[in-house]
Amino acid sequence: MRDTPPKTVAIVGPGALGCLLATVLCRISGEKIWVLDHDSQRAALLQHSGLVLERDGQIEHFSIQATADPQRIGPVDLVLLCVKSPSLGQTLPSLLPLLTKNSLLLAWQNGIAHLPVLRREELSGAMGLAVTSLGAHLFGPGKVRFGGAGATSLGFLGEASPQARPALQGAAKLFRMAGLTVRVEADILPQVWNKLLINVGINALTAIYRCENGALLQKAEALGLLRAAVLEAASVAKAKGIAIAPDPVARTIAVCQATAGNISSMLQDVRAKRQTEIEAINGAVLEEALRLGIAAPVNAELFAAVKALEKGYLPVANKVFPVLL
Ligand code: PAF
Repeated sequence: MRDTPPKTVAIVGPGALGCLLATVLCRISGEKIWVLDHDSQRAALLQHSGLVLERDGQIEHFSIQATADPQRIGPVDLVLLCVKSPSLGQTLPSLLPLLTKNSLLLAWQNGIAHLPVLRREELSGAMGLAVTSLGAHLFGPGKVRFGGAGATSLGFLGEASPQARPALQGAAKLFRMAGLTVRVEADILPQVWNKLLINVGINALTAIYRCENGALLQKAEALGLLRAAVLEAASVAKAKGIAIAPDPVARTIAVCQATAGNISSMLQDVRAKRQTEIEAINGAVLEEALRLGIAAPVNAELFAAVKALEKGYLPVANKVFPVLL
């Protein structure tokens, strides 16, 4: 492995973030970028029509290589795993054709439920995590609206081999060449939890109140729940010895202000009648809280409320209620 930028990249999952990353990378190295999609019809559409990026009212088109068959892509230097947390378990085995011992896989999921799933999986290559506050909104297959610049942190899940470190530096170089702000962290877990605390405070509440992020600050009841949910999750992080940044409530409120007009990813999921990431966010905090004997009644309330919303539209197979409720 080397610290030169990777030459071949596969982006797995053409959701909002996957499409945004594909467009920014296409701008610098179009022919080496593949999109892998489990949905063969949509993959054919993306291969035929390409991707559309809307940014500040300007529209740009990008040609892309897209497929539902990982064998067509073959081994790549870098895999960007952008599927939502609930789909991770079924996606990982399909990535085998993409990975060699020299590949680097970066997982971009929200929440913390992906961490044990990734740790369990024995894949070739090095396993890394990416935590980003880039904003993106999908407005059609392969059509993404840029939702705001934000920093991205990269790091390894667990101990990295000395050979894997240059590959992470190489990936960071590639993203910087594409114009992203990227930091490589010696320990990525605090960043994972800093973002988790923000999602704990915003995502479920925007789905429940069906409002934009900024509107949470206008409703006294919602703001009270936001504070309580974030403080519960912060107690869990502290009990686990994770060095989260100070004042997570103030940071969550600042994100509500900075993204005031955004529709959160969870409200987008509820509107599109998709499975949400509630289990990976408030559900995962609740599970850790129960394990550690910490009270988390507000996270329990938010978890149950979003599960009730999902129950209204998901097929029975997706209604997974953890034993704890
Ligand atoms: O999941 C999301 O929507 C985003 O992480 C955030 C920060 C809540 C902004 O909408």
